[in-house]
Amino acid sequence: MVISREELRRRLDGLPRLHLAALPTPVEPLERLSAHLGGPRIFVKREDLTGVAMGGNKIREFEYQIAQAVERGCDVLVHSAAAQSNQSRQTAAVAAKLGLKAVVVGRDDAHAQSQGNLLLARLFGAEVHLPAPQEQAAVVAAKMAALRAEGHTPFHTSTDARVFRSVAYVDGALELLAQCEQQGIEPDAIYLCSGAYTHVGLVVGLKALGVDWRVVGISPSPRDDQQAAEGHAELARECAGVLALDLELSPEDFESYADFVGPDYGVVTEESKAALHLVAEQEGLLLDPSYTSKAMAGLIAHINDGRWQAGQTIVFLHTGGTPALFAYAKDLGYA
Ligand SMILES: Cc1ncc(COP(=O)(O)O)c(C=O)c1O
Repeated sequence: MVISREELRRRLDGLPRLHLAALPTPVEPLERLSAHLGGPRIFVKREDLTGVAMGGNKIREFEYQIAQAVERGCDVLVHSAAAQSNQSRQTAAVAAKLGLKAVVVGRDDAHAQSQGNLLLARLFGAEVHLPAPQEQAAVVAAKMAALRAEGHTPFHTSTDARVFRSVAYVDGALELLAQCEQQGIEPDAIYLCSGAYTHVGLVVGLKALGVDWRVVGISPSPRDDQQAAEGHAELARECAGVLALDLELSPEDFESYADFVGPDYGVVTEESKAALHLVAEQEGLLLDPSYTSKAMAGLIAHINDGRWQAGQTIVFLHTGGTPALFAYAKDLGYA
């Protein structure tokens, strides 16, 4: 059942929320890129400009997710991923801002130098561990147990209250809709790189409001797209449940592609490198090596295949991640 924007706003406003991000993030035309590609008009929604700690989509997600940590009385924020994880940087910064302890369990991977995100996580005062990749899960489990034994209440920002990361992008959908209306933009599709949460939140928000923009997700990791769509549908039902939305949500609502990631997460491909250079050179806009350059490579491939053409409109959601560039000079051919 479709509901009004005011009603959706009212339901979101009923949830605990922190105010961390500089919102609304801008929506800007990419005129030179659009002309260069000779296809649809492309706009960018600058979620890389959410403010805290050099921005990115997690800052918006954390407004609702970490509000749950505060409600639960948690005193440590924990995150574990790659050494150059954006979320680790953002977790460390938000912990600093809220006066909480941060623990980052990265891994000793190819980008584990004190540059980019890892440098920033350290500057924000996080306790950083970089175990061998095969030991990472055990180190996280031991750290969580040790924190609890010391009387702490840890909150893992990957898994705890995870549905609220999507709830935040239901709010993001409301914001984008209002901006598109103000600027006279009628998107045929939204492109973004998402593991799940941003994509799911946008789809739930747009569906709740009866808006039929196509949302096309590009995966940052190798995966089975059908399985991903099933997982997204499950998360979407949970998200709808939080907001008491009466929606039919199924795997068919989720279009996403793992075709542009390359051999693994965080590995630069010829296409992602070309996309990163093209956007930088045409627009003075930075993409990142692990997420947005893959999404742009996907959009460019779909334009070149003729899926999107002149007369149509695409909004590219820039989810951030640019601090990782500083650990990727070699991968980009400059060291
Ligand atoms: C820059 C960037 N883009 C996209 C994502 C994917 O976010 P989500 O899976 O929360 O949609 C992340 C984090 O995982 C990120 O750091």
